[in-house]
Amino acid sequence: MDSDTLLFLTLVNVFVLLLLPAEGAEYYGTFPNNFMWGLATSAHQIEGAWNDSGKSEHIWDRFCHAGKCWNGATGDVACDSFHKYMVDVQLLKKIGVTHYRFSLAWTRIIPNPLTGEVNHEGLNYYQKLIDELQRNNIIPLVTIFHWDLPQTLEDIGSWANESLVGYYKHYADVVFKAYGDKVLMI
Ligand SMILES: *[C@@H]1O[C@H](CO)[C@@H](O)[C@H](O)[C@H]1NC(C)=O
Ligand SMILES: *[C@@H]1O[C@H](CO)[C@@H](O)[C@H](O)[C@H]1NC(C)=O
Repeated sequence: MDSDTLLFLTLVNVFVLLLLPAEGAEYYGTFPNNFMWGLATSAHQIEGAWNDSGKSEHIWDRFCHAGKCWNGATGDVACDSFHKYMVDVQLLKKIGVTHYRFSLAWTRIIPNPLTGEVNHEGLNYYQKLIDELQRNNIIPLVTIFHWDLPQTLEDIGSWANESLVGYYKHYADVVFKAYGDKVLMI
């Protein structure tokens, strides 16, 4: 993008922002009581522990390990939320959110989707996180897949292989059964 285009887009944004309050002035300054104040993360961005407690490799692990992420970064440790989730929940509480959306790492829960075997250490991690959020009056919202496809499935053709439908259904069944009545799923 050249600098003129960038300047143009920046000005358009400023323009739109200036217009918005005038257009919907009645919506500003107040929020409905049931407004969900929340923060959102994804597993690969925060968990770290990329090969810990039975988790297998997903496509973002592979991609970053190949040196393709910015400045050679990886999600190997990230915010280490896998180990520090209790500290993170306290930070969420301090900020004052009522909702927290996070994602489940498929590779933590079902390390080998071809066999479908469930890794209870992975399942327990999210259970502990959910319990801790609820103890602190924060409602968990869960994204069950945030693009971190198991590498095993990438290797057999990714989503172009129709057998992924069955593997995904099995994963979805496992997580709905484990957490479905405790969280909002999105
Ligand atoms: C996990 O990965 C780290 C590098 O990030 C490596 O040093 C360690 O040996 C690996 N552990 C296992 C159990 O494979
Ligand atoms: C699709 O996945 C199945 C395993 O479920 C595998 O046997 C098959 O070879 C894969 N197809 C392609 C085109 O890779």
